[in-house]
Amino acid sequence: MTDSAEHNASPFQSSAHAEDTTDFGYRSVPRGQKKTMVREVFESVAGKYDIMNDVMSLGIHRVWKRIFVGMLNPRPNMKLLDLAGGTGDITFGWLRAGGGPAILSDINAAMLSVGRDRAIKAGLIGKIEVCVVDAEAIPLPDCSVDRVTIAFGLRNCTDKEAVLREARRVLKPGGRFFCLEFSQVEVAALAPIYDMWSFQVLPKMGQI
Ligand SMILES: C[S@@+](CC[C@H](N)C(=O)[O-])C[C@H]1O[C@@H](n2cnc3c(N)ncnc32)[C@H](O)[C@@H]1O
Repeated sequence: MTDSAEHNASPFQSSAHAEDTTDFGYRSVPRGQKKTMVREVFESVAGKYDIMNDVMSLGIHRVWKRIFVGMLNPRPNMKLLDLAGGTGDITFGWLRAGGGPAILSDINAAMLSVGRDRAIKAGLIGKIEVCVVDAEAIPLPDCSVDRVTIAFGLRNCTDKEAVLREARRVLKPGGRFFCLEFSQVEVAALAPIYDMWSFQVLPKMGQI
């Protein structure tokens, strides 16, 4: 939701077919370059990410995230690993809903730094570990957390299978993985409006 290039790059609608390329928005880019490109996008927007999310989604991302957090069924005895957690919305939602200790992780230190400041302001920092983590290689032991989340993050990862494998590895037996991501519009009548918003309005807003 922050950038025309990365917006809508659903892993399920990937335009990449060749082995040595991958999706970056609707473009195919060499696999080896995607991480750097994604990093540059989020480093450049970190300070404005939250306001951009509100403006570009007309605030709807807050509703999606509230529903998503409710589905996690947070409990005080459960530990959360929030992958690609950015500025912390899911982690904060989890804690406010009564969840136990949380790891707010992201590959990008600039995004996490905004998240840490928000956590301090909200008085939540005592319950959060903030860690730079590549979701494709999680530095946690097997069977160590109860919930793994990734919100609008999977599409930004180069090796999505590795993310899923790693999430499964670190989950305790009975633990659950939750992914919040863009998908297809289910109400056909809304599709033209959604496409217009995605392809005409968002790219211009992203540039501005
Ligand atoms: C659209 S933001 C989502 C942030 C937050 N989850 C939210 O919903 O507001 C995508 C995040 O994915 C992170 N990211 C990209 N590739 C990653 C990777 N391989 N491992 C961990 N985080 C990654 C970016 O740094 C960025 O913070």
